[in-house]
Amino acid sequence: MDAPFIRVEPPGPRAREVLEKDSNVLMQSFVRWYPLVVETAHGAVVEDVDGNRYIDFNSGLAVMNVGHLHPKVVSAIKRQAEKLLHYSLTDFYYKEAVEVGEKIKGIMPFKGDSRLFYANSGAETVEGAMKIARGHFKGSRQYIIGFLGAFHGRTMGAVSITASKPVQRKWFSPLVPGVIHVPYPYSYRCPFKAETPEECGEAVIGYIEDWILSKMVDPTEVAAFIIEPIQGEGGYIVPPDNFLPRLRRLADEHGILLVVDEVQTGVGRTGEWYAVNHWRVEPDILTSAKGIASGLPLGVIGGKKEVMDLPPGSHASTFGGNPVSLAAAGAVIDIIREENLLENARIQGDYIMKRFKEMMDYIDLIGEVRGKGLMIGVELVKNRETKEPARKEMSWIINNAFKRGVLIISAGVSTLRIAPPLVITRDLVDRALDILEDLLKKAPRNV
Ligand SMILES: Cc1ncc(COP(=O)(O)O)c(C=O)c1O
Repeated sequence: MDAPFIRVEPPGPRAREVLEKDSNVLMQSFVRWYPLVVETAHGAVVEDVDGNRYIDFNSGLAVMNVGHLHPKVVSAIKRQAEKLLHYSLTDFYYKEAVEVGEKIKGIMPFKGDSRLFYANSGAETVEGAMKIARGHFKGSRQYIIGFLGAFHGRTMGAVSITASKPVQRKWFSPLVPGVIHVPYPYSYRCPFKAETPEECGEAVIGYIEDWILSKMVDPTEVAAFIIEPIQGEGGYIVPPDNFLPRLRRLADEHGILLVVDEVQTGVGRTGEWYAVNHWRVEPDILTSAKGIASGLPLGVIGGKKEVMDLPPGSHASTFGGNPVSLAAAGAVIDIIREENLLENARIQGDYIMKRFKEMMDYIDLIGEVRGKGLMIGVELVKNRETKEPARKEMSWIINNAFKRGVLIISAGVSTLRIAPPLVITRDLVDRALDILEDLLKKAPRNV
């Protein structure tokens, strides 16, 4: 499909019909950036109900890593749907759970033996990870240390560790007790005095050691650190290179588990199967969802065998590990290998970052460009000295990109979130970047 191709200014007449019904049918608790009403999508191109075609820099929220409607995913789903739709792993067995599970174990970053638990969503994997961590210590370690700016999902446990926007938590307290938040090493805006990103990373570790573990909670009461190896919703923030290895060491010193939430960073998004591989850090528990089943609901918790030890009856999920979702997941892993998509993510991602960094020479709205693979944040500021977030400028760019056929949303306060399918071609990347560059130049300033 050729894109961008705008035949009628969105929202067109068909889109408007859906929008009207949407507000009469659905609770409006979501934030939609623009009125995109999707009809179909192929590869990295999305078509709306009025026949407009857009280049997809969202991947349906970092889900469609192998591209929309990949023929191998579709045929795996069809084959499985004609064989078995459901039979609940809570009480029974089926072979897809172990066959695809072996493939999933093969891409996870555990050096020794590992075990999996299947859920249906990202939030459900985080809930499970919290229970596994606390359960592993048989309740003797109740505390969990999470990070400011984190997003882990909307269910009560997951939202208790989430701290990226107050609206996500407002009105829902009391949340799950025992969660302590510490700053994330956001080196562009380091909460501590630091000259370099590494100093920022070191300062955060120092804060956890000297203030939290020395003054607030005894380390023997902490079950886990839960961290996104690259913060997603919080702003596509890459930690300094020293940080995750230092956090791993700190966890080891105190027998605390390291749980990495790779719901957004996983399944090739950053140019590695999982983002922790960039820093050669082995977690104790890892949560994966989004891209794992190309749009079908599936969440997977992986963990070291000795940690994944909840007893029978203590945790389960009726739909978790649905055979059709698993068939899709098996196809996703094969496709990423066969089509060298980790490599394509690195190549296209490096190119996108290079182009944005070049733009910094003549577009002062861009404060920082950061990322790994095809998980890229372009933080917009009104002024590079004060780093005042350019919120309205960012909104203008996102909305006008939509009108010109590029789908992109934000992360954090004023960061453009770039997360195209890993199958995206250089040609589509260039077309989208030309439009974004033009908009970055034209954005009305100080609105
Ligand atoms: C890092 C991370 N964890 C958890 C979640 C929650 O996933 P879900 O929306 O599937 O519950 C998200 C969703 O954006 C996420 O980015």
